[in-house]
Amino acid sequence: MITEIQMENIKGQSTTQSLTGKNIFIGRNGSGKTTRIQALGLAMQGSIPGRGKTTAETIKFATDESMTVGLKTTDFEFTRNFTRDEKSNGKTGETKISIKETLNVSPGKGERTATEKKARIQDEIGNFPVALDFNEFLSLSDAKRRDFIYSLSPIDSDSWDKEKLSHYLQGRMLTTELEKNNKEQFEITKQLIGDALAEYRDKQDIHDGLISMIDWVAKESTFWKRKQADSQGTVRQMADMKNELAETDRNIAETKKELEELQQNLIEIEKKVAADTEKKRTIDNRLNRIDELKAEIKLVNETEIDIDNTVLDKDLAGLIASMPLLFDLESKLLPFNNAIYKLTEQANEQRQALHKVQEEMMNVRANVQTLDGTLKKVGELAGVCVISQMISCNKDFTGFDDYVAEKKAQAEQALMELTIQHDELKKRAGALEVLMTLQEDGKKEVFSAAQEIQAKREVLSQQIKMKETEIQKKESLKERKEGKLSLLDTELQKLVHEKTEPIGDISIMEKQAIGTRARIEELKVQVDEKDKSKQTLVLMNENVLQNHEAEYKSNALKVLNESLGAKGVQGELVKEILEPIRSQIEENLKLMEFEQVPYFQTESDTGKELFEFGWVNERGHEVNFDALSTGQQTVFLAAMMMTIIDRAQPKLRILVMDNLNHLDKQNFQLLIYGLDKLSDKVDNIILAGALEYDFTADGWQVDDLSATGVDQDASKIA
Ligand SMILES: Nc1ncnc2c1ncn2[C@@H]1O[C@H](COP(=O)(O)OP(=O)(O)OP(=O)(O)O)[C@@H](O)[C@H]1O
Ligand SMILES: [Mg+2]
Repeated sequence: MITEIQMENIKGQSTTQSLTGKNIFIGRNGSGKTTRIQALGLAMQGSIPGRGKTTAETIKFATDESMTVGLKTTDFEFTRNFTRDEKSNGKTGETKISIKETLNVSPGKGERTATEKKARIQDEIGNFPVALDFNEFLSLSDAKRRDFIYSLSPIDSDSWDKEKLSHYLQGRMLTTELEKNNKEQFEITKQLIGDALAEYRDKQDIHDGLISMIDWVAKESTFWKRKQADSQGTVRQMADMKNELAETDRNIAETKKELEELQQNLIEIEKKVAADTEKKRTIDNRLNRIDELKAEIKLVNETEIDIDNTVLDKDLAGLIASMPLLFDLESKLLPFNNAIYKLTEQANEQRQALHKVQEEMMNVRANVQTLDGTLKKVGELAGVCVISQMISCNKDFTGFDDYVAEKKAQAEQALMELTIQHDELKKRAGALEVLMTLQEDGKKEVFSAAQEIQAKREVLSQQIKMKETEIQKKESLKERKEGKLSLLDTELQKLVHEKTEPIGDISIMEKQAIGTRARIEELKVQVDEKDKSKQTLVLMNENVLQNHEAEYKSNALKVLNESLGAKGVQGELVKEILEPIRSQIEENLKLMEFEQVPYFQTESDTGKELFEFGWVNERGHEVNFDALSTGQQTVFLAAMMMTIIDRAQPKLRILVMDNLNHLDKQNFQLLIYGLDKLSDKVDNIILAGALEYDFTADGWQVDDLSATGVDQDASKIA
């Protein structure tokens, strides 16, 4: 039990408040009730209860440079001194305020450092946050009330351990349905449960183990949610695209169909244009040729050709007529040849005769010569044999000489005669020669006459040939003209009568083709765009598939968080905890002579997490705490606080209730009466309020602080 609260310079008060175990502080506003309670809290916890633990918050309560609070129990006392320490920074000139805390424990057990002393205080007193500001509690949200109650209700369940937790999570999260419907999610969840359970250290109890797991889940969730958010952007984009695509998918199918048809059409049109252009070209060529032929025929017809051959024929006839006739050369030559033949014969005869004469003359001359020789020889040989000169011959040759002389004369006579004959023959030969020459000349004349005729005929023949060629030419010119005309006409007739295939209007078809081409391009762009979008969608899909992990993890973490939290394990634990609390509160209420049955609700009808409590009134209605009257609320809270303190089993069990101003006399009496009955469960009860009525509180120390004012010891009012 705390027997004394010491305070110095806290909220302007320096006093010592003695405690008996059951104390009531009354007094007007600002008389220092709360200050005492705050001093108690500050001494126990090192900071003002309900305020932050920061230096700035604590220093607010110090009236001087130094503030001291202290507690005294039956066998232990301690003080905490907070000294303001202002340091100015030489460079910036800023002043920094800090608090230096000095602890003092007595009796000391050799504690030296602040840590050691704090540990000692913790050991002797505990730091269970006792003070409950009624108004403050009323202003709390359900969640904050829940946190408050949980924080004062250590969860140490015997029935829950790591193994049970593991079973619970598996049973709740790894359903056969999930395994069947989403194997991937199932596996990831399984993995996560394992990972989370690994955070639950073997030495930890269920409460700390859960906190470790919840902390880990929170961290993981943040990480994977960010990842998921990244991929969700993609997913949203995809969803938009999918909608857009779904909308246009049918259109695209139609567009593609139309595109194909148009392309087919275009091919047809282009084919037809090409074919008709070719046909047109042929027709144009044909018409051009017809014009050409007509012009040519006209030109040929107009070309004058002199086809009159009369003059030429006459000239030719003249030429033919003037052609000299050939004569019979042989018959013309015959008389000359005959004469020449005769003359030749005669000449031959003469020549033979001459030859004979010449022979005879030679013989005669030889005779004469021989005779002359003999005569000469006889003369030379006179007396010598003619056979051999060695032989002498005395024959007389005078008769012989004579004979020779006669013979010689005769021979000369004959020679003379022969010479005459020779000359005669020669003369005749000359005459024959003249005759012969005449005949030859005659013959030559005949020849040259024949040659002359021949030459004349050749010239004429040449002229005739030329004339004939000329006539021929004229003739062929005519023929050619007719032939050409016939050819041209034949071609013309053929072309004129040629059948032509009908052709379409090429310019219209070309316009059609241009239009079709433009439409095709337009459709192609459309199809291309959609195809690209589809491509992107496929890529995004892949991306999302990769990022599915984040989604699965986030899902699993969310479920895991729920499973661990108030809707899950903590909920289960709270239920386990709350039920004894509830029944204890019920018991306490009964002790205070309130018959109402309290209730706790941690889940809404739809399964949502909530934290509500209240009691069931005499008419059987569940009345929420907030709906209770302030007096009823105070009673309920007192019963609840008693329960919490009792269960929390702190070193020192202290129930403090401030601001009980709103209780009417009757209810305050009831509260005191009830708490008195419960007072065995706690070491100290401190009630405070600016109560303005008299009340009976046997066994309680009532301090009216207004009577004594601040800075004075409280006086007892019996
Ligand atoms: N630093 C300070 N210096 C001087 N006086 C202070 C300081 N801080 C607070 N006070 C005053 O101390 C007084 C004690 O206030 P306290 O909260 O204890 O009053 P109370 O008795 O609880 O009153 P109430 O019934 O209104 O709750 C108040 O008048 C308050 O204005
Ligand atoms: Mg007060």
